[in-house]
Amino acid sequence: MDKLVIQGGNRLTGDIYVSGAKNSVVAILPATLLLDVPCIIENVPDISDVKICLSILESLGAQIDHLGEGTYKISCEYVRDYEVPEKYAQKMRASYYFLGALLGRCGRAKAAMPGGCYLGERPIDQHLLAFEALGADTTLIEYKNDDGVGYVGAVELHAKELNANHITLNVVSVGATMNAILSAVKAHGTTVIENCAREPHIVDLANFLNYMGAHISGAGTHKITIEGVSELRGNAAEGSVEIRSYSVVPDQIEAGTFMIAAAATRGDVYIHGVIPHHLRDIADRMAECGVEVEAIENEDIVHVYVKEGAAFQATNVVTEPYPGFPTDMQPQMAVLLALSEGQSNITESVWEDRFKYVEELRLMGANIDLTRDGAIIWGVNGLHGAKVKACDLRAGAAVVIAGLAATGTTEITDIHHIERGYSHIVEKLRGIGADIQRVSE
Ligand code: UD1
Repeated sequence: MDKLVIQGGNRLTGDIYVSGAKNSVVAILPATLLLDVPCIIENVPDISDVKICLSILESLGAQIDHLGEGTYKISCEYVRDYEVPEKYAQKMRASYYFLGALLGRCGRAKAAMPGGCYLGERPIDQHLLAFEALGADTTLIEYKNDDGVGYVGAVELHAKELNANHITLNVVSVGATMNAILSAVKAHGTTVIENCAREPHIVDLANFLNYMGAHISGAGTHKITIEGVSELRGNAAEGSVEIRSYSVVPDQIEAGTFMIAAAATRGDVYIHGVIPHHLRDIADRMAECGVEVEAIENEDIVHVYVKEGAAFQATNVVTEPYPGFPTDMQPQMAVLLALSEGQSNITESVWEDRFKYVEELRLMGANIDLTRDGAIIWGVNGLHGAKVKACDLRAGAAVVIAGLAATGTTEITDIHHIERGYSHIVEKLRGIGADIQRVSE
């Protein structure tokens, strides 16, 4: 198993580039199943969740050509299968997007319950609500564990035809909103989805599908309207093929992670290829801590630095659906707060169990107490290196940042979590002065 070894204490300085968004691409790749023509997807991050998505597409019968770095041509014309192999479905959360996409494509889908980071209960009742509203029968298939205890192991969907409906989600859910879009895009009639999530990746999925011929409006607001279409072929007339290219939106969370890494090391970093307004709430909380964050809107750059002698100040963070502070930035932000003078409070309002990283940060000298729905952090003068693990994807990002800011050596195990969502993180951080290596044990 490989690990990351960081010699902390280097100020990060210079220029770093953000990759395409993980949470967009893991929906856009399944969405290619809905197309009637091949397409090219660009700005695809080199992360293990993408490799799993591509493996699922191939296993279903899609043809995939790797055209160059981050660019894939995907042709799904010959896909006949509707079953996502269990070994892939269980490796990531976003495998559930294949349920919506396959249902929309062929009226049938089957997949094992998705895996991914454990952040507490991750129900899919709102996804099923959307599928059923469009006319699908949903069957939850029970498996038995070694002790003979039953649990829902897989989901099967079947619809003779999909018909539009008015869907009101009971919970603001990114995944359910995406799946409702994927399954409604080719349904008969006009579907309205209310109480939608508004994350940038939802807008990106809608933009991609619209570019390929869908009629989706309202993505990025609480109400999305979808006029069903019978075909998705861009501008190509029937019988002809026009291959369109679509570039995945920049990763908001990767950008935010670099912003905090720059700040925590008291560095001076230009983060390129971002959409500054996606980062507004992150930037606002960082500014409250005394970090300088300047968005250069027309140039897609955010500049993060710390004034000489400035001490970080405590602040409070409440995670919320977009445009609020992203839960996926909560562990990274905790590192900055651990280095900020005074008492900070974090309230986690999305996931019930997103604080496993706290134990790791404590090993590095952080002073953090857990509360019922959050954490209280008392700032310390500095962190020190330790042997820690990446408990999940963003928890892994947090210990990387802590290691960069700490004195001494930090060794991080379980880095497969980090590689699910960060493209070339070692090379990128080395490029701005970090002393970080991937070491084979
Ligand atoms: C997505 C992101 C994840 C992020 C999360 C919140 C992907 C691949 N993952 O996860 O990184 O942390 O959004 O921004 O994009 N819920 C239900 N029933 C459902 C679905 C969700 O009760 O059917 C609840 C969840 O328990 C949670 C809340 O809704 O409390 C938000 O979950 P959701 O937005 O669906 O998260 P994911 O799409 O799984």
